Amino acid sequence: MRQLTLKPIIRYALIILLIIIISGLIFIQFTNNYIVVVLVLLTEYLILMMMLHYVFDKYVKPIKKATDTLDELVKGNFSARMHHPVTGSMASLLMKINKLARSLSELSFNEKIHAEQLSTVIENIQSGLILVDEKGYIHLVNKNFLHIFGKTEKDYVGYLYYDVLENDTLHKTIQQTFLYEQNVKDSIIISNQTKQYFEVIGAPIFDDRNMLKGGILVLYDITELKKLERMRKDFVANVSHELKTPITSIRGFSETLLEEDINDKDTARHFLSIINEESKRLQMLIQDLLTLSRLEKEDSQVRLSKVNLIKIIEEVIQVLNIHLEQKEIAFKVNVPKELIFMAELTSVKQIMINLLENAIHYTPKGGEVRIHAVDEEEFIHIIVKDTGIGIPAESLSRIFERFYRVDKARSRNTGGTGLGLAIVKHIVELHQGKIEVESEVDVGTTFHIYFPK
Ligand SMILES: Nc1ncnc2c1ncn2[C@@H]1O[C@H](COP(=O)(O)OP(=O)(O)O)[C@@H](O)[C@H]1O
Ligand SMILES: [Mg+2]
Repeated sequence: MRQLTLKPIIRYALIILLIIIISGLIFIQFTNNYIVVVLVLLTEYLILMMMLHYVFDKYVKPIKKATDTLDELVKGNFSARMHHPVTGSMASLLMKINKLARSLSELSFNEKIHAEQLSTVIENIQSGLILVDEKGYIHLVNKNFLHIFGKTEKDYVGYLYYDVLENDTLHKTIQQTFLYEQNVKDSIIISNQTKQYFEVIGAPIFDDRNMLKGGILVLYDITELKKLERMRKDFVANVSHELKTPITSIRGFSETLLEEDINDKDTARHFLSIINEESKRLQMLIQDLLTLSRLEKEDSQVRLSKVNLIKIIEEVIQVLNIHLEQKEIAFKVNVPKELIFMAELTSVKQIMINLLENAIHYTPKGGEVRIHAVDEEEFIHIIVKDTGIGIPAESLSRIFERFYRVDKARSRNTGGTGLGLAIVKHIVELHQGKIEVESEVDVGTTFHIYFPK
């Protein structure tokens, strides 16, 4: 920089020196008075030097500064500005350079913000994402993608996708995206500790001339969806299975009755009673299925009214009394008469029937069933306790599932639909309450229900 400034100065100084020497030589022709010559030359020198200084300060220096500022801007330092006291056209140049610098710095700031926003979105998106250029090099992988495959960015970025992606379906999806230049869908299963299902979507990226520039691959977690789909399939299979047994039995016995000449009245009666029992079972099953489907309707709402628990228990026990007597089970109720809370009447009745039916069902002859209710601060707490066969610990978390039975063979014979507790849980949850169970095999089972007040 110093060199650049010095060069013109030396050049101009030499020119001035030349002018002075020439004018000195001319002057000396006209006069012999050396003092006058020296004085004139000195004045001439001073005037020329002042002119040089003026030109230098007014034009050369600002241009130099402008060049330096532009150099800084080119290098990416958008905070560089030009400062020089100038007027006229130079002042307008200075203003324009500073304006350019300001626009550039604003532009780069906005660009930075956009880039930051984009990377925040990419990083926080729930799906795995990977960006590949048209040659197949990976440019970007987001956090979720790394999480799915348990690797780091260094394992992917800068490599060809077919060298570092282990899954063949991912290769195929990228290849087809590039080949057909349109979105391609597939799915993969990844087994780490658990099985995870992903929908894989490949999407091509084009530039403004519609040329393929690369593609993105998105891995969307559909494990939950798969689970729901499985549950739905299982449910349909279970319902069909539950329906099949009584229908087969009804058909078999009625065909026998129709086709064979059964003279023995007792045998005929026996067959008819089986048909009767099985049709009752069918009716119960359909009833429970309808109840579940009603509870599951999205707009299903509970119609709250004042419910008196002791009245409900009295009603329910009239229906169940016959079973209590048959099995000689002692039934004890400890519920305050004035216990009234807001709930759906038919639903509370259904809960009590289902729980008491189970308690009686799974309690051997001579046992005991107790109902206890307490008005707690936030909840009405209802306890149904029996001294029955109990539920093994490993089954406790599953008994609220549809059609789950601890002892499959035995329970089906005892007549339950396998839906009783699923219905109870559903109703309790619709009331924003909760249900808990504790049990010990051969000691008994206790259900706790909490209705919010
Ligand atoms: N009080 C209880 N004591 C022992 N086991 C029970 C009790 N209540 C429920 N269970 C177990 O939970 C399973 C599911 O109950 P539930 O949904 O009412 O179906 P179901 O009674 O029709 O079999 C029952 O099959 C039984 O194994
Ligand atoms: Mg039951």
